[in-house]
Amino acid sequence: MARILITSAIPYINGIKHLGNLVGSQLPADLYARYNRARGNEVMFLCATDEHGTPAELAAAKAGKPVAEYCAEMHGVQAEIAKGFRLSFDHFGRSSSAANHKLTQHFAGQLAEAGLIREVSEKQVYSHADGRFLPDRYIEGTCPNCGYDKARGDQCENCTKQLDPTDLIEPRSAISGSTDLEVRETKHLYLRQSDMRDKLNDWIDSQNDWPILTTSIAKKWLNDGDGLQDRGITRDLDWGIPVKKGSDDWPGMEGKVFYVWFDAPIEYIACAAEWAEANGKTDADWERWWRTDKGADDVRYVQFMGKDNVPFHTLSFPATIMGSGEDWKLVDYIKSFNYLNYDGGQFSTSQGRGVFMDQALEILPADYWRWWLLSHAPESGDSEFTWENFQQSVNKDLADVLGNFASRVTKFCRSKFGEVVPEGGEYGEQELALIKELQEKLAFYQAHMEAMEVRKSASYLRAIWVAGNEYLQSAAPWSAYKEDPDRAAAIIRLSLNLIRFYAVLSGPFIPDAAAKMLEAMGTDNADWPEDVAEALSLLPAGHEFTVPDVLFAKIQDEEREGWQQKFAGQRT
Ligand code: MF3
Ligand code: ZN
Repeated sequence: MARILITSAIPYINGIKHLGNLVGSQLPADLYARYNRARGNEVMFLCATDEHGTPAELAAAKAGKPVAEYCAEMHGVQAEIAKGFRLSFDHFGRSSSAANHKLTQHFAGQLAEAGLIREVSEKQVYSHADGRFLPDRYIEGTCPNCGYDKARGDQCENCTKQLDPTDLIEPRSAISGSTDLEVRETKHLYLRQSDMRDKLNDWIDSQNDWPILTTSIAKKWLNDGDGLQDRGITRDLDWGIPVKKGSDDWPGMEGKVFYVWFDAPIEYIACAAEWAEANGKTDADWERWWRTDKGADDVRYVQFMGKDNVPFHTLSFPATIMGSGEDWKLVDYIKSFNYLNYDGGQFSTSQGRGVFMDQALEILPADYWRWWLLSHAPESGDSEFTWENFQQSVNKDLADVLGNFASRVTKFCRSKFGEVVPEGGEYGEQELALIKELQEKLAFYQAHMEAMEVRKSASYLRAIWVAGNEYLQSAAPWSAYKEDPDRAAAIIRLSLNLIRFYAVLSGPFIPDAAAKMLEAMGTDNADWPEDVAEALSLLPAGHEFTVPDVLFAKIQDEEREGWQQKFAGQRT
């Protein structure tokens, strides 16, 4: 039994994620977690909300709530939606947890001890009225380039010119509107990533099985321009993890917090500690996943994320881990994704464009979305969601092929033999041919699942469904029944067993339908098939079953058109 640690990039707390976010990290991570559990491996699947940083503060201000309260509420909302999509996290944590405070401060202390942190003096705008330093985007003023009067300290939205806050004419605080601003010296901490360039480079070079998308992005950041730059890991904000060296104060760093991208990946580890605490476990229980000196040396650690997250996971977070000088587990495999586009453009959270996770579940159950998204995962390039394509996949793959198979077989059996697996004759030539075909396809399906080739896995699963349908069509029990009821019974006995077989193999993709199929087959035996012939004899003659409700309803043209209209504009 292997031990697999799986993390999905942790979603920002501000707002509900769209389907593009979902397919780029949480959903394929869930697929992999479910598959590994089904194969009998020991899995720890972790995710959390990413709660610090300016966007969280701004969103809370917009909602008129204290930021801690806003985050707690939004965490609940995201957790509920994750449940709706059947994301099977072992724990859904929070980067603002006490565990992450402690661990983030611990890592900073270790890095400082190793001489990997330097203090830098910078000039930054201080607002007297607000009693705080202002991040660039909290400062507004007139653009020196185009005269636009709502330019931000980092960029003018009107003419797109990159700005420094000191470039602005008549700068004011975006929080209070106050013009009582002053440029002050302030100290910040920088992580000496540049010192670790060779080490990181060697480590990435030794990962010869990583996807090209992952390594090419990592290499680009390592080698382009001036190479890996030192990175500021502190900010002048109220909301965040206070800067400390372990549990000690850090002189000169009072009132400052760690930068969100420093503490967010550390939450992958802290989340395991949260899991332990929430489940009455000990430190040793979570450390055996994360500390190679405490049992994690045989753990395989896999991360899932969108391509924009790759630099932080291939360089920054490993720099933190390696720099700590302690025996923390480094990632073994990074599965990254391109973008999913929406109907001729991009999904956009800021513009409210596309379908968001909550809206998707209001329209259709999770399995419909899971199937489409996973079978169209943006792996080799960007992919696109269109309503036509969605309708077509659901109607064909789920309703016509899988759903229809289960329905035809169970209904036919009920009408001719009753709701029990019929006795009938032995499996004949056709059945043996099918078994052979399924055994081959199963091997491919497993190989692709193990390699996290999401689309290819989906297409093998579909092929496995199709093989059963074709078999049923050509064996034609409804005709056989007239001359040779025993033959029809054998065909149906195999087909009922196929429904259970499909339930087990399809579980990672469409868990709800899989559960319904198992229930209808009156069994909770979800053992992964090794030998197909054996798996297809599992439900013996005389075993009772029930006819399931419609597994997948077809999407009608009028429905599709309605949704197309509904989601054409912006989310408000
Ligand atoms: N919140 C980030 C995003 O959605 C991902 C953070 S992943 C972590 O892009 F590594 F920092 F945890
Ligand atoms: Zn401008």
